[in-house]
Amino acid sequence: MAPSSITSFPPDVVPQAPEDPLFGLMRAYKADPSPNKVDLGIGAYRDDNGKPWVLSVVRKADEILRNDPEANHEYLPIAGLASLTGKAAELLLGPSAPAISEKRVASVQTISGTGAVHLGALFLAKFYKIDGVHRTVYLSNPTWANHHQIFTNVGLPIATYPYFDKETKGLDFEGMKRALADAPAGSIILLHACAHNPTGVDPSPEQWREIAALMKEKKHFPFFDTAYQGFASGDLDRDAGSIRLFVEQGVELVIAQSFAKNFGLYGERAGCFHFVAAPSSDAAEITSRVASQLAILQRSEISNPPIYGARIASIVLNDQALFAEWQENLRTMSGRIIAMRQALRSKLEELGTPGKWNHITDQIGMFSFTGLTEAQVLKLRSDFHIYMTKNGRISMAGLNTRNVEYVAKAIDKVVRELP
Ligand SMILES: Cc1ncc(COP(=O)(O)O)c(C=O)c1O
Repeated sequence: MAPSSITSFPPDVVPQAPEDPLFGLMRAYKADPSPNKVDLGIGAYRDDNGKPWVLSVVRKADEILRNDPEANHEYLPIAGLASLTGKAAELLLGPSAPAISEKRVASVQTISGTGAVHLGALFLAKFYKIDGVHRTVYLSNPTWANHHQIFTNVGLPIATYPYFDKETKGLDFEGMKRALADAPAGSIILLHACAHNPTGVDPSPEQWREIAALMKEKKHFPFFDTAYQGFASGDLDRDAGSIRLFVEQGVELVIAQSFAKNFGLYGERAGCFHFVAAPSSDAAEITSRVASQLAILQRSEISNPPIYGARIASIVLNDQALFAEWQENLRTMSGRIIAMRQALRSKLEELGTPGKWNHITDQIGMFSFTGLTEAQVLKLRSDFHIYMTKNGRISMAGLNTRNVEYVAKAIDKVVRELP
């Protein structure tokens, strides 16, 4: 007979954790044998055939890399590939940004955007205190679910600010401003630079200006998360507008940057974390101290970041012709998604589906927060094999010219059956 368990980890100490809802959904989709199944869950780009797309520019960079006799598998420095991190900062702040020429930017290559958010969270948990007390991190309600886990895991207190207005399916701007005004001075405010996940709702440029002014007045600390630059509007500069506005205001801030979506390098884990100091006579010295501590944190977490995806992105960012081709690839992806937004909206309107559907085209980026209820979402899954997260978020990239009508008709049916 097997001995009864002897462990330091009984269920009351280590309870069974639920499966990650998004990856659980992906598994259920894969196991579904229906030929009609549609995956609107995971936030990864698909082409019009519903297939993952390797960007043409990434194929070219890959070819260059494979033919490079100097390429090897040595360790990168702790802060990563310098030819990537420098260009990555330029991409965010603009090539002639004073912050860069004044050496006010410390950049570290990370394990994609998740690793960048984590490194930033770890840095703030260790060093960002006011009168010896941690400040709360305010997350938009809703936000990318992983934000809650990442900041909680490093021991930072979290709270939320209103963001999505269920009535208009747009921004709850007044609610957001009220929460920012009420938060204790110096709070950390997590902002999605563009293409907000999961809602697809972004502040307008004018609203961003108001947010920046309010945060500056309250001395809040901006933590930007940018996972969709160029992927949202097709224009890299436009999608960095919110970040540039804050940097021009001369506030100290940090940025987590992912190259997963805009390069289609999801599994290669390419990204960067940036600290930007406010302009001052000792800004370069502050930046150098911060960089030295980021290096210590990085060393104890991952030693040094992965090399392959970083090289691919670096090759593209450092070559004019490849950079232009990347911009074209970005327009292809964002253009197809915008076309799918229009197609879904117009098909729902044609069908006379109860409710308003303008938010499908008003929202931007990978996701749309449809307003479908959990019961409707579950019925779409059981009756039509259409997979989306329970909050009614759909990944627009999962739609294509062949399935958009099927999806619209299914939504029409469940909205009528389960109002
Ligand atoms: C808002 C946001 N931040 C960060 C990430 C990080 O993604 P990755 O770690 O794949 O770069 C994502 C991915 O979905 C995201 O939506």
